[in-house]
Amino acid sequence: MSGCCGSSDHCCRAVDVNGAVKQMYRASPVPNVGGTIRVPGDKSISHRALMLGGIATGETRVSGFLQSADCLATMAALRALGVHIVQPRGNEVIVRGAGDGGLQASATPLDMGNAGTAMRLSMGLLCGQRFSSTLVGDASLMQRPMERVAKPLRLMGARIDTQNGRPPVILHGGAKLRGIDYTLPMASAQVKSAILLAGLCSEGTTRVTEPAPTRDHTERMFGGFGIAVRRAGATVELAGGQQLRGAEIRVPGDFSSAAFFIVAGCLAAPDGLTVQSVGINPTRTGLLDMLRLMGARIEVRPLPDAGPEPLADITVHASALRGTVIPPDLVPLAIDELPILFIAAACAEGETVVTGAGELRVKESDRLAAMAEGLSAVGVRCDLLPDGIRIQGGRLHGGRINSHGDHRIAMSFAMASLRATDPIDIEDVANVGTSFPGFPAAARAIGMRLDEAAGP
Ligand code: S3P
Repeated sequence: MSGCCGSSDHCCRAVDVNGAVKQMYRASPVPNVGGTIRVPGDKSISHRALMLGGIATGETRVSGFLQSADCLATMAALRALGVHIVQPRGNEVIVRGAGDGGLQASATPLDMGNAGTAMRLSMGLLCGQRFSSTLVGDASLMQRPMERVAKPLRLMGARIDTQNGRPPVILHGGAKLRGIDYTLPMASAQVKSAILLAGLCSEGTTRVTEPAPTRDHTERMFGGFGIAVRRAGATVELAGGQQLRGAEIRVPGDFSSAAFFIVAGCLAAPDGLTVQSVGINPTRTGLLDMLRLMGARIEVRPLPDAGPEPLADITVHASALRGTVIPPDLVPLAIDELPILFIAAACAEGETVVTGAGELRVKESDRLAAMAEGLSAVGVRCDLLPDGIRIQGGRLHGGRINSHGDHRIAMSFAMASLRATDPIDIEDVANVGTSFPGFPAAARAIGMRLDEAAGP
């Protein structure tokens, strides 16, 4: 990369306490962006396709699979549990399911890396097995709350240990599970999915009631595997003892990855920017509603024959965004897109207020704190609220951002450069590969200037 000070790339490298060099981005302003791109497969759906395929009878064929660090962690865990998985091409995967009772104990702890979905859904998948399992992860995942999953699973009869509520999670084998009727204390698709997965090997019916709608990929995918699930209002229920049959899964482009480009288009695409073949499951697209409330020009063209997960091409044009009060009921439908929404708010005219977003404090980083810190570093006035943030839109200058190892913070600030007066240097970006391998190339493909400094 060209050097920050014009001579070498040294000042674009962050050195951690052990002397290891971490990856950095330098995102430099460009006048505008545009064109047509595709984003990699959906992370949530890729995890679920592997897991359901892993316990099904017969073969599951997955196309559009997201070959990212998070999903590869799920793949490695399933292999360690005796599932045969082949990958003829990067985004094509064939899972030869272990079938009913066919999973085997892993000889070593299952390492879920940075992936909360892998760990929490695996708790549901594995707590009813005859063998024990231990789940661990990277430094971020080892700090994340797991009791929200362990508690309802214990009510079902599972025997689970956590360490002060955090990983390592030990699932003791041989528990006999029974269905429960559980109301989630927080809107969480991971907790809902873990309970439903445990419900599959429970006696009786399992019912989960959500305080607000969350992503329903597990429920939709169950249908393809021959599992009957019923939804009545905010409650989803399934009968225990149902067998999964291998399925064909087409994974759509990840809306959460498309979100960075949708906002980039709103900020700087006078002639439009299109993201093709993106999943538009309505439990995921709250960002579109939020941006429209702010005055964004967005066109969604649904594609035919998409299967259980709807697909569309999305075109956005540069828009004069206005600050707004975000309706809290949209928040769970955009939970992973709030960091990039905050960048849109920083570039809008006037004030934007987001509340009801306390869950952001327990993501890969404390995303409220990390975003407030980063926004301040590029000159944006904001106030951190206990469950949200108040942002005064205005001019962004350049600066140095600590992404706190959080992929979505890193990618959000890359997009902020489109409205900055000077380059933004973003530290600790290696985890972008957990959800969006190829992000820098995709950013450059729309005309952005994103330089990388790799460590040795
Ligand atoms: C996910 C659910 C959400 C989301 C995460 C993926 C899933 O987490 O933030 O990135 O795949 O079920 P919560 O269930 O904790 O809200």
